[in-house]
Amino acid sequence: MPTIVFASPKGGAGKSTSAVILATELAGKGASVTIIDADPNKPVSRWAKRPGKPATLTVIADVTEDSVIDQIEESARKTAFVIVDLEGTASAMVAYAMSRADLVIIPTQGSQLDAAEAVKAVKLVRTQEKAFRRIIPAAILFTRTSAAIRPRTLQAIEIEFMEGGVRVLGTQMHERDAFRAIFAFGGSLSDLDPAQVSNIQAARNNALAFTGEVLAILKPSAVASQAKVA
Ligand SMILES: Nc1ncnc2c1ncn2[C@@H]1O[C@H](COP(=O)(O)OP(=O)(O)O)[C@@H](O)[C@H]1O
Ligand SMILES: [Mg+2]
Repeated sequence: MPTIVFASPKGGAGKSTSAVILATELAGKGASVTIIDADPNKPVSRWAKRPGKPATLTVIADVTEDSVIDQIEESARKTAFVIVDLEGTASAMVAYAMSRADLVIIPTQGSQLDAAEAVKAVKLVRTQEKAFRRIIPAAILFTRTSAAIRPRTLQAIEIEFMEGGVRVLGTQMHERDAFRAIFAFGGSLSDLDPAQVSNIQAARNNALAFTGEVLAILKPSAVASQAKVA
């Protein structure tokens, strides 16, 4: 079922965080989800070792360049969603994962320097489209943005992407302590303790909006897989 790949050559762009948020939201709705942890630093596997990983969520590590396509295809047969978290480099692994994606999400922070790195990821998607002769939907996801203000620099970057024909998600992942906290404590946003983490509800609303937008983009296949889950 649908495969969503998080890619960006920039380390620290918010790939792993956004991938785990999306995966736990989908699993929280009762969907079966596989996360393929294709980063040799294994951030998702480390999160999964902590308590609270949803029962319907499986994490697969130890993927290699040679096995990533088979892993994606096998997981897509078994679970309603496959989410691939990639390393912050442009490798053959990244290219292969993109080749099987129903949606490539390219997280980026809102500076011009970060956006330049996101453009590299967009170009790699375009190259894979040519190589595999198929359309690979891709979208920019702004991360760690302020919930309170929308700076002009960010708006300018957004317009540049859109003018270049690159889709930009309407939902941004705001800078929230709760998005960091799940990596410290494990589990989902709903498991966090309000005594330890501030403003969990705002983060949950943000995660819900992000997941809703991703599902809307995936629509035909996502609806089919959700129907299977129900
Ligand atoms: N929306 C967010 N709010 C707060 N912190 C975030 C958010 N997204 C990412 N971070 C933090 O930024 C750093 C890099 O994020 P990470 O998801 O590991 O990026 P990547 O996987 O692209 O290298 C981490 O310390 C993470 O906790
Ligand atoms: Mg990462």
